[in-house]
Amino acid sequence: MLLLTGATGLVGSALLSRLVAAGTPVRCLVRDPRRLGADRVRVQIALGDLADPPSFRNALRGVTTVVHLAAAARDQPRGSIEELNGIATWRMVQAAERAGVQRFVFLSALGASAHNRTRFHRAKALAEEAVRSSSLRHDVLAPSVVYTPGDPYSTLIGRVAAVAPFVPISGNGRARFQPVWADDVADCVHAVLRDGDGDGSRRLELAGPETLSHAEIVRTILRGAGRSRPLLRVPVPISSRVLQAGEALLRSRALASWDEVELLEVSMTTPTGTRDAEALGVRPQRMAAVLGVG
Ligand SMILES: NC(=O)c1ccc[n+]([C@@H]2O[C@H](COP(=O)([O-])OP(=O)(O)OC[C@H]3O[C@@H](n4cnc5c(N)ncnc54)[C@H](OP(=O)(O)O)[C@@H]3O)[C@@H](O)[C@H]2O)c1
Repeated sequence: MLLLTGATGLVGSALLSRLVAAGTPVRCLVRDPRRLGADRVRVQIALGDLADPPSFRNALRGVTTVVHLAAAARDQPRGSIEELNGIATWRMVQAAERAGVQRFVFLSALGASAHNRTRFHRAKALAEEAVRSSSLRHDVLAPSVVYTPGDPYSTLIGRVAAVAPFVPISGNGRARFQPVWADDVADCVHAVLRDGDGDGSRRLELAGPETLSHAEIVRTILRGAGRSRPLLRVPVPISSRVLQAGEALLRSRALASWDEVELLEVSMTTPTGTRDAEALGVRPQRMAAVLGVG
């Protein structure tokens, strides 16, 4: 039995359909099973929450492999970014060790480090450390920014462009990324799982085939949405205050949080490019090709 967390997310939903098609027995740890869509009748369901580590124990019964994708880029009512990414992963690893799990596959992020400017990257560094120092065979995969057509960020940009003559972006838009399609990431995770002969203690960096600035990513999304709009660069002291005020007012209903937007100000690139993905037999596609704009 394989336990998949984050099965309702961009990567998780793409991975789940691959696992189901391959006939792999899967249990999904989810907050709300309805979000699994049609696949919910093809898997076992364990109700659980990253903010409730005792819920991991039931979910791990009889499990040999954990694929831990669930994560949060903003604070939630029941847990902070640090609790949901760092501490929850640490508790998941401990529970997996106690449950006799053999293998732990973890999705981190390029740039995860205790010294990174963002809370998310610092929490991912703590999570990686928990996985690395465990007794489990483990694979850590660290992607650059992940996208898919119609994902929440593209949808937000499309909505803004539909009603405004320009699209605001925080900061100078010069941070650099190697956007990687969620389906390509899912193919990489699936390849790692099938590669039973690997020594299971490796860190792979997953990147798309081109390096784009944040501004170039937004322009590509706008082309995908069929709308051309000038970008309005909003100085960070202003964007951070506006977003923080929005969160204070609207809480979890805010369209974007400062912690999420700050992630797009910190470059997430690897000098090895697509090497690790290709070693798994996956050739990541260009963002414009995935979005059907060239
Ligand atoms: N997206 C990126 O640009 C990016 C970049 C680098 C690394 N990563 C990492 O790659 C992995 C997959 O990313 P993704 O983009 O597929 O994520 P995503 O679309 O944001 O989905 C997050 C998943 O985590 C689940 N989740 C969130 N809070 C939870 C909680 N409190 N308890 C249980 N489950 C919870 C969500 O479930 P609900 O349906 O309940 O919300 C969802 O299934 C994550 O570990 C992420 O940090 C992503």
